Amino acid sequence: MRVQPVVVTVLLTAAVAYYVYIPLPDAIQEPWKLMMLDAGFRAAMQLASLKDWLGFDHYIRSIRKSTEGFEGMIKGLDSSESGGGVMPGVKVSDITFAGIPVRVYEPPAGGEGHLRRGLMYFHGGGWALGSAKKGSYDAINRMVSDELSAVVVSVEYRLYPEVHFPVPYLDCLAAAKHFLSPDVLAKYAIDPERVAVSGDSAGGNLAAAVAQEISIDDTMSLKFSIQALIYPVLQALDFNTPSYLQNQDIPILYRPVMVRFWLQYLGADLSLQHQLLVNNHSSLHHSTITPDLRARLDWTVLLPSKYKKDYKPLIVKKGSQGLVKEVPGLLDVRASPLLAGPEVLAKCPRTYIVTCEYDVLRDDGLMYARRLQDAGVTVTNDHYEDGFHGCFSFIVWPMDFDIGRKMLRGYINWLQNNL
Ligand SMILES: *[C@@H]1O[C@H](CO)[C@@H](O)[C@H](O)[C@H]1NC(C)=O
Repeated sequence: MRVQPVVVTVLLTAAVAYYVYIPLPDAIQEPWKLMMLDAGFRAAMQLASLKDWLGFDHYIRSIRKSTEGFEGMIKGLDSSESGGGVMPGVKVSDITFAGIPVRVYEPPAGGEGHLRRGLMYFHGGGWALGSAKKGSYDAINRMVSDELSAVVVSVEYRLYPEVHFPVPYLDCLAAAKHFLSPDVLAKYAIDPERVAVSGDSAGGNLAAAVAQEISIDDTMSLKFSIQALIYPVLQALDFNTPSYLQNQDIPILYRPVMVRFWLQYLGADLSLQHQLLVNNHSSLHHSTITPDLRARLDWTVLLPSKYKKDYKPLIVKKGSQGLVKEVPGLLDVRASPLLAGPEVLAKCPRTYIVTCEYDVLRDDGLMYARRLQDAGVTVTNDHYEDGFHGCFSFIVWPMDFDIGRKMLRGYINWLQNNL
């Protein structure tokens, strides 16, 4: 029997549609674009896992190669140079700060003796993916530098699997301390009163952690005047917050994927994923997790009821015994800035926090905003009812979303008025 080409086509189309289609909330705009993007990510991850299993390459390195290939393809389609050719007036230099590779973006020269804003940026990517210099981060930093007349320093901190916590944090801290030295600020004609630290996702985690450390470091005469955190990752003790549960199946950051990023970052055994998903790692058995510490991420108290809905807290009585000892980074404030005490938060700079309704990390951000406010810090929380995790960096064609552009606009506007 000859199979009709039309039958093959119909079957193939059905198979692709089945792979690509995921039900999404109505509020999410451009749903098909998100589905295609997510299918691309899933395919890259599955291929990478296969290659890893076959012993070819570490799966993180395979994913990096496929995203770089994709970005190269976009550049090929785009007649202009890197960064989508945006902001040709911005001067770009690849140098090092205290031995850490950074890319510095300098805005077109202002008048003589005119001091500029400064902004240090840590990119996202689960402490494993992404680059300060490539893809949308390059485009975003050029735009921020140009529009704010700011010297932007984007940090190429080291990633998993080459390193794990605390190395990425220490890289960022070293670069930040170098940036905040009077000599360096003077060299770039930056106003010491107008220096921000910022980052998205895992980069928001690093920005929050570095901002805390610098705020309480008495040896630092200059401090950041602002922190701008875009859907930051802030805690690893509760993977059953309302947002983790509500958004566990929303692309592109699925709940188990975030847990895996955490285990990778903390240098822990990846087989612990199931224990973390059921909060076995933070059971009441662990006396090191004091009631005081638990209160710092108690969403039943810290979230407005609008977000709590009918969700119930998951606090396990008797989970896995040794976990906190096996993964000491779980209780380290340098990894989980939400665990910091009120005395530390009180010293933090004025804060901008972006949260998205359709993001497992929504409640991390909302709780941090609330706790900073309670500690007396001025906080602006831009909550996007139609936002999903990752959209801030989706502004370059063909991976561009209206919500991403809107969020970037909001971010630049806030910095324009507050930095
Ligand atoms: C969580 O801990 C309990 C008690 O030790 C254990 O029975 C259960 O199997 C654990 N769950 C997972 C998913 O490991």
